[in-house]
Amino acid sequence: MRLNRTTTSLLLTAGLVSAGCIPKQKPSASAASSVAPEPSASSETAANPSGPAPAMEKSLAQHFAGSFSLGIAMEAFYLEQWGALTASTFNRLTAENAMKLGQIQKMKGKYDFEAADALANFAREHSMKMTGHAIVWYRETPTWFAGGSPEEVSERLKQHAAVMIERYADVTDNWDVLNEGISDTDSKMYRDASEGSKLYGALGDKLPAVAFQVAEEAVKATGKDIDLYYNDYNMWQTVKLDKALKMAKGLKDAGIRIDGIGAQAHWNMTSPTADQLQTMIDKIVAAGLKVKISELDVSVYSNDDWGNEVWEKERPFDDALAQAQAARYKELFEIFVKNAQHITSVTIWGMSDNKTWLDSFPTKRNNYPLLFDDNDKPKPAYFALFEVASPAQ
Ligand code: GLA
Repeated sequence: MRLNRTTTSLLLTAGLVSAGCIPKQKPSASAASSVAPEPSASSETAANPSGPAPAMEKSLAQHFAGSFSLGIAMEAFYLEQWGALTASTFNRLTAENAMKLGQIQKMKGKYDFEAADALANFAREHSMKMTGHAIVWYRETPTWFAGGSPEEVSERLKQHAAVMIERYADVTDNWDVLNEGISDTDSKMYRDASEGSKLYGALGDKLPAVAFQVAEEAVKATGKDIDLYYNDYNMWQTVKLDKALKMAKGLKDAGIRIDGIGAQAHWNMTSPTADQLQTMIDKIVAAGLKVKISELDVSVYSNDDWGNEVWEKERPFDDALAQAQAARYKELFEIFVKNAQHITSVTIWGMSDNKTWLDSFPTKRNNYPLLFDDNDKPKPAYFALFEVASPAQ
């Protein structure tokens, strides 16, 4: 899938996507009843809104504990609705938006840690680890932050990394240092100012080195073992991955720490193929880097025409589609388990189909990419993951 971010950009600007507030025109979770399903129950009859995970022998996170940790992207304002389900299904949290610069320090010197702290406290209370997301992301860089001389901008970045990495050092085991810093234009290495990166506008090609260097210093100051990642979409595409690996080699050659590549994994029913994924993993590993699957969701639309911006017509999430998606999730996790030695974590990008950014990207259209349905009931994909053989812890 070739991601074109124009639509998201508009929605982000309007504060809609990042606030996660484009609900579906569908029954809300709170309207559903509350009975835990048996493992064999179909998603049609199962109901478990907002409660703990369905009664399986083990939680999904425990099922994969011998392979990798299993994470969920979460907003603090969903903890009331999804806290129990989160704690009983997953053992890792990513702040969907709360740790981004635009949320933490939208205005100079005015820090807002409330949502990030709420998520971190939840993780602490439930012995979950967090993925820090993200120190630098071009979409969440306030204008004030990127103004001034390169030295001033580097210093600001240093302070920001130090504040974030220190504050959550006890609960995070890795950070996305740079998110989406590589250009989608094949001939161009980095996402530059014309593609929306104000920090690239300020620091140019030095941006990755500055970002990873200040993050490394901040980690050292904590005395903790916190891995530093580059994170991006379409990492399975050869040209884009090669650029990311070239950047990583440049950092390592300069003595700057980078530990891994996060493959965002906004995928669909057919793309990427199993072979493409295996090649992606092999290349990252050959470069001496760890792999994480950082933002997994499986769109049910595979026939969009990205070149012409013509989107596949909305389809109902019928049983056949649910079963096909379950098989696809199973296929993906089989690949992850096969490569578990190199994969540190797998994070699902959202709890239920009722709230997914894919309802508005690349166009407004109901999508069903997650493990729980519109009423927070486990889907066939959820149950299929228990069929993936994963070694005991
Ligand atoms: C990117 C970012 C995420 C999130 C998604 C859209 O993948 O890395 O933090 O904003 O876009 O939900």
